[in-house]
Amino acid sequence: MAMKVLVTGGAGYIGSHTVLQLLLGGFEAVVIDNLDNSSEVAVKRVVELAGEFGGNLSFHKIDLRDKEALERVFASTKFDAVIHFAGLKAVGESVMKPLLYYDNNLVGTINLLEVMGSNGCKNLVFSSSATVYGWPKEVPCTEESPLRALNPYGRTKLFIEEICHDISVSDSSWNIILLRYFNPVGAHPSGFIGEDPRGIPNNLMPYIQQIAVGRRPSLTVFGNDYSTKDGTGVRDYIHVVDLADGHIAALKKLFDGSKIGCDVYNLGTGKGTSVLEMVEAFEKASGKKIPLVFAGRRPGDAGIVYASTEKADKELNWKAKYGIDEMCRDQWNWASSNPWGYESPDSPK
Ligand code: UD1
Repeated sequence: MAMKVLVTGGAGYIGSHTVLQLLLGGFEAVVIDNLDNSSEVAVKRVVELAGEFGGNLSFHKIDLRDKEALERVFASTKFDAVIHFAGLKAVGESVMKPLLYYDNNLVGTINLLEVMGSNGCKNLVFSSSATVYGWPKEVPCTEESPLRALNPYGRTKLFIEEICHDISVSDSSWNIILLRYFNPVGAHPSGFIGEDPRGIPNNLMPYIQQIAVGRRPSLTVFGNDYSTKDGTGVRDYIHVVDLADGHIAALKKLFDGSKIGCDVYNLGTGKGTSVLEMVEAFEKASGKKIPLVFAGRRPGDAGIVYASTEKADKELNWKAKYGIDEMCRDQWNWASSNPWGYESPDSPK
């Protein structure tokens, strides 16, 4: 019988790509999402892309803070595991509205863990972030590097990691894998699903993509005085399909019978790319010029962040396959066929 996986936040950017890989891998997926920063259209497109496996997906519009609704989902299905993506993720907004972030991300997760525990489902993959490394003193970041959250959003990721450790100590039947994502970009090669943030994008690639389709005039480059090859910030960009596959590798590890407790893996490529290199790769892939405006550093930004990927390679048998050219190709393919994301230009954004 197919393994059943509950995916919170499965309508979002990383969630939708992961749900597709789950279906194609023979899993059944139940998606819950409050559609706060995502669209049900993404879920419908995943069903189409999954072809004969599309019938193995069901969707419920639920907010994790609604514990009774969560209880109902668990009462109707016995899950083998949960992949937990749901959460707010805008750094600037988290500084302005910390309680919203603590309520949404922490209360939502505590509800989920309680309902999982009381229903005997104790296999979890949690969506953490390289943000927990703060300003790394040394790169590459290994899973043992010092941790430091720089804002409420980052603190919610760090707190949830700690909560997961604590419950695995209190009850050894929990098996939890924390995945620290570096910078997810790109889209499914079909161009049918991709990233569609509400409002002004905070992150580099969605911003560049909106310039290329004519929605914004120019890119503000935050800082060109870092000690990097061209002075601009260096990050470890990872293709979202590679990232999605990393979740399947983590699930396989959960199901292989080994005693995990709570373990953590970086998901990145191990390669650093500067802002200007990324812009150049995108210009090449799209044939569009991205006008640049140089400005000061963005508060809170680190100069260089990239991952050590050895642990995931060795223990999850997972490695990123795609480079920045494929990331930009697929980002452009998605952007050019869906310039307004999942909505029409007339919908409120
Ligand atoms: C940001 C968040 C981080 C979060 C991650 C999620 C901040 C301070 N950090 O990380 O907590 O986990 O997204 O994906 O928001 N850049 C520009 N111009 C832009 C946008 C970005 O020059 O308009 C530069 C940044 O300075 C950085 C690089 O592009 O050097 C990547 O930025 P971004 O995509 O926002 O990712 P992070 O800063 O790594």
